Amino acid sequence: MTSRPLRRRHVPDGKVCVVPSLLAADPGALRRDISRVAAGGARWATLDVMDGHFVPNLSYGPQVMAALRQGTMMLDAHLMVEDPQKYGPIFAKAGADMVIFHIEACPRPLRLARRLRAAGSGVGLGVKPGTPASKLIPFLPDIDLALVMMVEPGFGGQAFMPSMLPKVRLLREAIDRKGLKVWLAVDGGINVKAAPLAAAAGADCLVAGSGIFAAKDPVDAMRSIGEAARKEFDRLKTGGTHGR
Ligand code: DX5
Repeated sequence: MTSRPLRRRHVPDGKVCVVPSLLAADPGALRRDISRVAAGGARWATLDVMDGHFVPNLSYGPQVMAALRQGTMMLDAHLMVEDPQKYGPIFAKAGADMVIFHIEACPRPLRLARRLRAAGSGVGLGVKPGTPASKLIPFLPDIDLALVMMVEPGFGGQAFMPSMLPKVRLLREAIDRKGLKVWLAVDGGINVKAAPLAAAAGADCLVAGSGIFAAKDPVDAMRSIGEAARKEFDRLKTGGTHGR
């Protein structure tokens, strides 16, 4: 099977990336809100896809993904669905630059990873709070992003769980030890207070919903989250604890 040319892809570059989560954007003006953060410097946004089974909430279909793709902004689909084998390729074909799915819904992810790559999409793999991060380590060489949920998935606006930080440290250590170019993402409760904690643990991709879109000035909030994290991330790197 010939793999379609890779779409827009950002690989880890030693800098922290703040990724707006559209779940907290204005549902009646998603295009406006994605353009706003894009104009504010966001180079990547995430679309939370929920099926009402894997998580107790419903959100967007593939037609929304197709409608929101614009310019050079990378747009990923975070699948919180029970059947990623079915919906992963559908969102890849709808234009997702990366499809992130959960190991709880797909214990043997390599076959799906290959299918997503064949569809031209990047691959992300995530764990919910109740799942050990060690489950992701065997698959790190085959993915572009490892995701640690810092809240129970399904809703925005929940409180960040510091008890998940050891998972981030474990994955940071594994990614660096193997010398891999894999994003280490955290999602849930990210704001200017939580961002430095996550960055200090080694996260370089910070997904934020209400921390950005519930603010009076979303772009300013996005930049403040980035600055708060960057200081910590750079301090760690120069401190050599990071191995990069
Ligand atoms: C929750 C979603 C998150 C959520 C983040 O299941 O995966 O992306 O939108 O929202 P905040 O940043 O408000 O916790």
